[in-house]
Amino acid sequence: MKTKTITDIDVQGKKVLVRVDFNVPLSSKNPADNITVTDDTRIKAALPTLNYLLDHGAALILCSHLGRPSSAADKQFAMDPVAARLSELLGRPVKKLDEVVGPSVTAAVNAMQPGDVILLENTRFEPGETKNNPELSQKLADLADVYVEDAFGSVHRAHASTEGAARMIRAKGGPAVAGFLMGKELDALGTAVSDPPHPYVAIMGGAKISDKIKLIENLLKTADKVLIGGGMANTFLKAQGHQLGKSLVEEDALPEAQRLLKVAANRIVLPTDVVVAPEVAADAPAETVSVWGIPPDQMALDVGPDTIERFNEELQGAQLVVWNGPMGVFEIDRFAEGTNALAKLLAALTAHGVQVVIGGGDSAAAVRKAGLADKMTHISTGGGASLELLEGKELPGITVLDRK
Ligand code: 3PG
Repeated sequence: MKTKTITDIDVQGKKVLVRVDFNVPLSSKNPADNITVTDDTRIKAALPTLNYLLDHGAALILCSHLGRPSSAADKQFAMDPVAARLSELLGRPVKKLDEVVGPSVTAAVNAMQPGDVILLENTRFEPGETKNNPELSQKLADLADVYVEDAFGSVHRAHASTEGAARMIRAKGGPAVAGFLMGKELDALGTAVSDPPHPYVAIMGGAKISDKIKLIENLLKTADKVLIGGGMANTFLKAQGHQLGKSLVEEDALPEAQRLLKVAANRIVLPTDVVVAPEVAADAPAETVSVWGIPPDQMALDVGPDTIERFNEELQGAQLVVWNGPMGVFEIDRFAEGTNALAKLLAALTAHGVQVVIGGGDSAAAVRKAGLADKMTHISTGGGASLELLEGKELPGITVLDRK
């Protein structure tokens, strides 16, 4: 059953509580500075939903968390810079409130007219937010007639603003539906989970295999091939009997890696060469070696050109590719070549009609850094949320919404 969206409901003259994910990077940690938003991707991603609701006569009460403040005293996480950028992007005033709930918020909301936009203070300034506190959820729900979930990046959190408020609005008979960003994310990632076109190739990277064992297991149920690079490939290579030198290897995860290689040996594809250096440093001397010849005093920090060629062969003919996690320490240029080469390859596949979906977090950052963000079918705005969805988990911020 599909989730209802904003096009399924009437919002004319209604007050709509929209949970957005405006957890964006900021220019400074010092509240005394003139803090600005340094990457507005997530704000821009919410605009289609916000503009649609405004065009259809709603008044918008927006809420989001920002960072991980320990209390309301962490003023560097106040929503003011977000409100300023949002107002520029929407081309209309955004009234930023200094509280999440309370009499001042109720008064401001009572005075709203269709077309008005309010942004509540950082939801995590309220201790009840991360505890999914019923009182806070009820106070948020009391503000609005309709709940719209467009915070894809946060739907794996059962928090008051992502789950509790939606449940309470439903309890009083109001709709709780998904926005357009949610719809896009669910189409791209949800299809990969439930009904992928074949051949479907998943590419996994990042440092740790222990974080992603469930994910790889779930991918092996639906994907035809799983290509593995980045630090997590080291543990698989060790499980195959390779010597990894000083490379990061998760000894505790070796039995799991061995098990996965046994059940899906011919469907897991590992690096054949790696870029090694004695340490993780921008000026460390680097060289490319076969995975059979990693020197004892070196560590693998990127995949090599032979691996990219091998991955390229596996990707030919694919209809769907999902990529999550960089191929190396991409933050350092000399160890970013594998990740960049893969991003270019995927951009070329997209141009040939292949559906290429990039999971959020580091792989999204790597694609943006390579200047290829607009060359992929979809880049998720969610890091943890996209991983949990691909793991096959039910996400509380989605489960709570109305079904068609
Ligand atoms: C994210 O950036 O992944 C989301 O906004 C969730 O943030 P959190 O991990 O602090 O809950």
